[in-house]
Amino acid sequence: MKVLVTGHKGYIGPHVVKLFQNAGHQVTGVDLNLFEECAWENLPTADNELSKDFRDLTMDELSGHDCVIHLAAISNDPMGDLVEDLTYANNLRGSIDLAKKSKEAGVPRFLFSGSCSVYGKGESLDLDETANLNPITAYAHSKIETEKEVKKMADDNFAPAYLRNATAYGHSPNLRIDLVVNNLLGCAFVNGNIQIKSDGTPWRPLVHCKDIARAFLAFAEAPREAIFNKAVNIGSNEENYQVKDVADIVQKLLPDAEIVYTNEVGEDPRNYRVNFDLLSEVIPGFKLEYSVESGMVELFDKFKEHNFSKEDFDGDQFVRIRTLKHKLNKLEVAQ
Ligand SMILES: NC(=O)c1ccc[n+]([C@@H]2O[C@H](COP(=O)([O-])OP(=O)(O)OC[C@H]3O[C@@H](n4cnc5c(N)ncnc54)[C@H](O)[C@@H]3O)[C@@H](O)[C@H]2O)c1
Repeated sequence: MKVLVTGHKGYIGPHVVKLFQNAGHQVTGVDLNLFEECAWENLPTADNELSKDFRDLTMDELSGHDCVIHLAAISNDPMGDLVEDLTYANNLRGSIDLAKKSKEAGVPRFLFSGSCSVYGKGESLDLDETANLNPITAYAHSKIETEKEVKKMADDNFAPAYLRNATAYGHSPNLRIDLVVNNLLGCAFVNGNIQIKSDGTPWRPLVHCKDIARAFLAFAEAPREAIFNKAVNIGSNEENYQVKDVADIVQKLLPDAEIVYTNEVGEDPRNYRVNFDLLSEVIPGFKLEYSVESGMVELFDKFKEHNFSKEDFDGDQFVRIRTLKHKLNKLEVAQ
């Protein structure tokens, strides 16, 4: 299969490139390289590398692919709030346009990287794909509005699907520590304490970034009718945690680290526990490879291997919003 992956040099993308190549597929990667120099390990090279904005892809560049995997985005809540206009231009209008162009170019399958953050302030626990959506950030709005628009494009020749990923964690060659698990473990590793910015009660579904990549591979290889125009939560029922539970798991690895509540963000309105039953119906037999606990052990070993330091934790390299502030012109120029 020939797949085109946007955003293949971000946090999740390197796992996607490697897994697809290992499965014998040919990968075209498209990335603006916003975070390329943030990588702490070599990134896998796609079979065809396009260093450009996905919004400038031509029909010629898209045609001939069997599947587009659309990861590229301004990719979290705080960043979306910092640059709301850019979030809508890039994540929403850019994504709708890419789906349109992919369809016109004859690409039969389009997999969109969505997010469980569309549930926002969860109205009840165990939210499934039919639950009311309560997006409370520009980022979450961009994800759900894209889903709605691309849904209308589905037909006999174009099979989109929407992977609503849980919050990612774990090791990647292009690490981020602005995600709750990685952040709490990194903080304990360099500061000797675990700083929780909320009151620790909000629920979050969590999934290893490599398991997200495995889900994309499964959706790309699945029969068309299994995935056709479906929005599917990506994660596992057992992997919903309250932030304070995550802190307890960190403490198991670093028993001397004290848990400190900084109350920096007050009550966190983002609170959702998610049901993942549909995933096993759509992709029978799909199981996560990692739990938060095993993913943390792996990342802990990587912190030791890379001598992860306080400078690393406090610097720009592993925090998307700090790096992005210096890169906004790259995205603006392309609007
Ligand atoms: N990390 C998570 O917790 C998580 C959870 C759910 C969903 N997602 C979604 O998965 C996708 C990938 O997430 P990530 O954590 O790897 O993000 P990331 O920010 O680490 O990587 C995004 C990549 O996209 C590229 N990019 C951004 N805009 C571009 C453009 N216009 N043209 C070309 N390249 C562009 C960046 O250079 C970067 O390499 C995103 O759509 C994100 O919203 C992530």
